[in-house]
Amino acid sequence: MGKRPRILLLDDEQQNIEMMMRILEHEDVEIVSANDGAAGYSLALDCRPDLILSDVVMPKMDGFEVCRKVKASPELMFTPVVLVTGLDDMASRIRGLSAGADDYLNKPYNAAELIARVRSALALSLAHQALAGSFATMGHFTEYTESVLHSFDPLKFDAKVMEFHLVSQILTGRVVEFNRPAGVLVGAAGGNGWTGRLYFQSGGFVRLFFETASVRPPARAERKTGSPGVEFANFGPAGAGEGFGDDVSKVLGEFRSYAAVRGGAAALVAMNYEKDVSRFDADVLKSLSMHLHFFDNLASLIRRTDEAFRYTVEALARAAEANDEDTGNHILRVNEYARAIAVEMGLPEKLVDDIGLHAQMHDVGKIHINPSLLRKPGKLTPEEWREMKQHTVYGARILGDHPKLTVARSIALTHHERFDGSGYPRGLKGDDIPIEGRVVAIADIYDALRCARTYKPEFDHNKAFDIITKGDGRTMPAHFDPLVLGAFVSKAGEMDFTYNRMKG
Ligand SMILES: [Fe+2]
Ligand SMILES: [Fe+2]
Repeated sequence: MGKRPRILLLDDEQQNIEMMMRILEHEDVEIVSANDGAAGYSLALDCRPDLILSDVVMPKMDGFEVCRKVKASPELMFTPVVLVTGLDDMASRIRGLSAGADDYLNKPYNAAELIARVRSALALSLAHQALAGSFATMGHFTEYTESVLHSFDPLKFDAKVMEFHLVSQILTGRVVEFNRPAGVLVGAAGGNGWTGRLYFQSGGFVRLFFETASVRPPARAERKTGSPGVEFANFGPAGAGEGFGDDVSKVLGEFRSYAAVRGGAAALVAMNYEKDVSRFDADVLKSLSMHLHFFDNLASLIRRTDEAFRYTVEALARAAEANDEDTGNHILRVNEYARAIAVEMGLPEKLVDDIGLHAQMHDVGKIHINPSLLRKPGKLTPEEWREMKQHTVYGARILGDHPKLTVARSIALTHHERFDGSGYPRGLKGDDIPIEGRVVAIADIYDALRCARTYKPEFDHNKAFDIITKGDGRTMPAHFDPLVLGAFVSKAGEMDFTYNRMKG
């Protein structure tokens, strides 16, 4: 059973209150009382009763006024008020009803009648609260989903963080407003119960209490089923329940109720609700569970697709260098250098990622260049050189215009442009060269200087650094964007480290 319903008794004569308490003593309710209308109204605001039984004639504030104030208060407006009075003339009755009273009981009343009126008014009150709570829960749930969708990043999605976030929503009442559970277990169903991580709320904080907890409902629990995969149960009057067993009882006490959702082998279980668990509570839990699985599945699907995409990009880059003199990890090192420079320059994260992935495709157009040309020792004829330069244009053509390959295409096309306008294929100058082209240009040249080529030996870091920053007639500092060059100089140590780490 959940919390007992609370009844507020208002009467200026203490003996009337005591008599009502005696009549109601066998009802499973909690009673609070006050001896005048003003004190009663402020007590109601504090303790939020489920029902108010009020005398009419009282000092300070009479029953009609209490009734009007209750019905006008956003916190109490759905609390039923039953006026109990000796004024049984028609005018008072009408006054009471127009003040918003839900029911009227004449003194002297019969004990059985009082009990019957209280029970029916309480049932009404609880139904009202459940309805209002459902509305609030649906509203919160929608807001919550919106906020998650808004910040959803599949590549950074962490199921554990999401789980904690979701459980917090359930336990702290940000989503579930009306009937909150005291503990939530996220894990797997097995045998007669569940095993998994147990969370509970303490002092306003949600804590993971056990990494592995086992919970099984009492054998006598009458399990009800809701929509598919959902079950719930309430275990009779308080005091007659069984413990959770083991240490879990220390946290959650006596096992009173649960709702469980099962999806495949996974399970989400909420325990010890404030009030009796209903099918609605179980369905709310199911929505939350589906929510978690939806984002988890979506994220892993997108991650797998992204992995396949990265794999394909590398495979294409590798295919292109098959006939090239470049060897080993040239393409992967260029990715690393370019990413480091892009980070140092403070480029946007997305662009940094694109550069760090697509720099390796800078020479993809060499697929179209005759292998004998690519491997020719000695100098190229002007004709051959013209053809060689076309690898930039061929690369852009291969990569096409898919939005995911915009940066890749731009790198392939512009990585031989020079800041002073002396590059190819178009002789672009300065900022007309896209930033990704300017970054990859320096990364590509640094690696070419470090490696042995048919026309040159391997250079050490200092020599490659000097050629780029001071020039050797063939490569000149004026070829580079000064900002990119500055970032290269700041990251020079890292470039050297990367070359040594990834050479071969
Ligand atoms: Fe190239
Ligand atoms: Fe290259």
